[in-house]
Amino acid sequence: MTRTVYVNGSYLPENEATVSIFDRGFLFADGVYEVTSVLGGKLIDFDGHAVRLERSLKELDMEMPITAEELLEVHRELVRANEIDEGLVYLQITRGAADRDFAYPAEGTPQTIVLFTQAKPGLANSPAAEKGMKVISIEDQRWGRRDIKTVQLLYPAMGKMMAKAAGADDAWMVEDGLVTEGTSNNAYIVKGDTIITRHLSNDILHGITRAAVLRFAREAQMKVEERGFTMDEAKDADEAFITSASTFVMPVVEIDGDAVGAGAPGPMAKRLREIYLDESLKTAI
Ligand code: PDD
Repeated sequence: MTRTVYVNGSYLPENEATVSIFDRGFLFADGVYEVTSVLGGKLIDFDGHAVRLERSLKELDMEMPITAEELLEVHRELVRANEIDEGLVYLQITRGAADRDFAYPAEGTPQTIVLFTQAKPGLANSPAAEKGMKVISIEDQRWGRRDIKTVQLLYPAMGKMMAKAAGADDAWMVEDGLVTEGTSNNAYIVKGDTIITRHLSNDILHGITRAAVLRFAREAQMKVEERGFTMDEAKDADEAFITSASTFVMPVVEIDGDAVGAGAPGPMAKRLREIYLDESLKTAI
């Protein structure tokens, strides 16, 4: 099926949608993005993604070229037009097209805004969640503003390939002996009855799923510690998992070839996944 996509104010068939070769997103990775999941044809945590988008733009001295209300409308229209029941909406905003120059273009240069959908049938009842995933550890070689959701994703893509080459599903990145996050997700371990995940700073993306999961965990009287943890701690943990808009809560069963706990998805991760899916569906729009 030819998707309908959104480019700079127009809804177009995907094969007719174009962006300039001078776009700064293409030349400088000078752009930001968001990924919002869709369940039952509704958007999960839309407000959180819209707020983080505005923050990412602000941190890079970019304008928000569309209101949050219009943005919601575009998301909904794409979900409707492409008949997405379970899947994702990808959004990207760049500083626009201008002759190649490291300095930002003149004020008023139109920004580029692109949205498209990806159908992911079975996103909620994913077999991967039953099986759990394997991760390896790699050095974190990204830049220092990982709290800004920019499209410069080459190192995470390389990390994903390093994981694949090692027969794993993803990589956890380590800096100064402590895990920062996964290539495209936040990382957690469980020790006893405590959930441990890195505290918020410029070193990690402030996951929208992370915020919701920690809130639900606390509401369910689970203990949460926000601090860095080592790979040794992770290998010795009872459970491990990741969170992101595209995976929700996904158990990790193997780290660097060693089984985590019993080597199967643990009860806390399973419960958090259920709570997250139930609660997010209640507020989906
Ligand atoms: N990635 N950390 C990184 C580096 C990420 O790229 C992501 C999201 C997350 C989780 O954030 P959230 O819960 O808001 O999705 C953490 C998206 C899904 C992606 O790049 O496809």
